[in-house]
Amino acid sequence: MGQHPGVIEDRLSDFLCAVRHALDYAIMPDPDTRVAVREILRKLPARTTVGQTPEPGRNAACATFESALLAAENGPALTANVAKALRVLEPHLKWIQNPNYNARNQGALFKAGQTFVAPLGPSDFGGLVDAGDVLLSAMLMAPGVHYKEHHHAAPELYVILAGDSMWRRGGEPWKRHGAGALIHHASRQVHTTQSGAEPMLSLAIWYRDTASHATVV
Ligand SMILES: [Fe+2]
Repeated sequence: MGQHPGVIEDRLSDFLCAVRHALDYAIMPDPDTRVAVREILRKLPARTTVGQTPEPGRNAACATFESALLAAENGPALTANVAKALRVLEPHLKWIQNPNYNARNQGALFKAGQTFVAPLGPSDFGGLVDAGDVLLSAMLMAPGVHYKEHHHAAPELYVILAGDSMWRRGGEPWKRHGAGALIHHASRQVHTTQSGAEPMLSLAIWYRDTASHATVV
């Protein structure tokens, strides 16, 4: 796959357009999410110069990506459009795993089945564009993976693209979320996710205080 910057910029621009559209028309589950979406929409660049071209590629934890992407493309229109743009952009992206997580603190299944790409992110995240205090990633979890309780300084918005999954934040009860759902985590709010029988593909957007990594509780 050639890495011509103009082609990558066009594809990234299409992806960002689909993300903006999905956020703009999403059903807001609560006022905090509405405020978060407004801030993200203000901060997301429309078109940017791709300054970094990481060596693209998948890793062993990407085994369920194709089936998750296909499910997302066949899901609700707004997130299906994000998935279709991600399919075109993905060959330029480098899938990585959080270096702070390992089989000991997150479990062997997590290590084998959780990975992400960062279309907007710093170069050590494999990002194409360092967009300052907004970090836009796509996260994949294989079926039956538990992402243990963790927190981070950055407030975060998840947009589910595919895969019914269970989510819990703070002291709230577990909730099931499917394609199209928005899930907001405040700064330092403890949260945890469990994928179901299908792989879970989502957007994860950090939109402030992106410099420090997530920490397991
Ligand atoms: Fe998080």
